Amino acid sequence: MTARIIDGLLLSKQLRATVAQRTAALTARGHRPGLAVLLVGDNAASQIYVRNKIKACDNNGLYSVYDRYTNELTEADLLARITVLNRDPQIHGILVQLPLPPHINTYKIIETIAPEKDVDGFHVANVSALITGKPLFRPCTPSGVLKMLEWKNIPLAGAHAVVIGRSNIVGKPMAMMLVQSDATVTICGRKTQDLAAHTRIADIIITATGKRNLVTANMIKPGATVIDIGINRDDDGKLCGDVDFASVRKVAGYITPVPGGVGPMTITMLLLNTIEAANRAAG
Ligand code: GUN
Repeated sequence: MTARIIDGLLLSKQLRATVAQRTAALTARGHRPGLAVLLVGDNAASQIYVRNKIKACDNNGLYSVYDRYTNELTEADLLARITVLNRDPQIHGILVQLPLPPHINTYKIIETIAPEKDVDGFHVANVSALITGKPLFRPCTPSGVLKMLEWKNIPLAGAHAVVIGRSNIVGKPMAMMLVQSDATVTICGRKTQDLAAHTRIADIIITATGKRNLVTANMIKPGATVIDIGINRDDDGKLCGDVDFASVRKVAGYITPVPGGVGPMTITMLLLNTIEAANRAAG
């Protein structure tokens, strides 16, 4: 068997047509969706992600503000800036790129963002509402994964899903969203004993660890769906995920590539969340 590819670029392109349309309609009514992106420090990967987010806003008609700060920015100054953005009617979404430098308390920063502008879905109000099923925003990467699974009509109800990685940004919300879809979910982390024993019985494997070649063909049930959220570099410096793509592709039923899989979907979901925020503000 050769797995079918879930092409995140293609699905993103389709969804971004809707994004541009909805943005134009809101703009015509005087409510152009606006996103503020804040980056502190010089993390190379973060700089690329943020640049892509701003570019996506530009390409789809959204208004954006990009605040780039050096590592010297104080927590108090960042909090003050968020407070200003919370009151700015042109800004509907606020995204503080993570990770933040260690002298800044990430929890405090996220909790200062108004929940109705928390397009990342990281504020505790949105995280807790995710558990009951009605958050204002769902985190972008897991939402993108769900859209990809829906697009390919991959059944979730009754499926056994294994999520590898238990971060607040991806793993935990991903698991919760799968639970909401009636999947049976196992969350694996760094301390999990015998990871393969879990993955081998999974219908859906979703990995977000940043460990290259963590998931290999012998860990996959034939026909399973494999979603790769990892972003790593191979020995030649080329982008790759957590999955040994060449070998797993021969066993899985569906697989996402890196690049061109989940990555583009994350930004598309961010645009959709920002549009939703603007739509609510417009009333
Ligand atoms: N760092 C890595 N992924 C993300 C994300 O989705 N949002 C933010 N704010 N920071 C990130």
